[in-house]
Amino acid sequence: MIKVDQELCIGCGTCPAICPGVFKMDDETGKAIVISQDDIEGANNAAASCPVQAIIVA
Ligand code: F3S
Repeated sequence: MIKVDQELCIGCGTCPAICPGVFKMDDETGKAIVISQDDIEGANNAAASCPVQAIIVA
């Protein structure tokens, strides 16, 4: 299960840049949301690049 912790995300935009199939910036909150669970590897790559470790892949 791929999740973005909304408390931790600072809206840096890195995760949708790395893995647009899974992450998208929410227009209202300015934070990342998960739109698909279909790319665990891409999500792991994005998680490794998130500056605040807001992405959880479990
Ligand atoms: Fe937020 Fe981290 Fe993505 S700060 S926008 S979850 S890379």
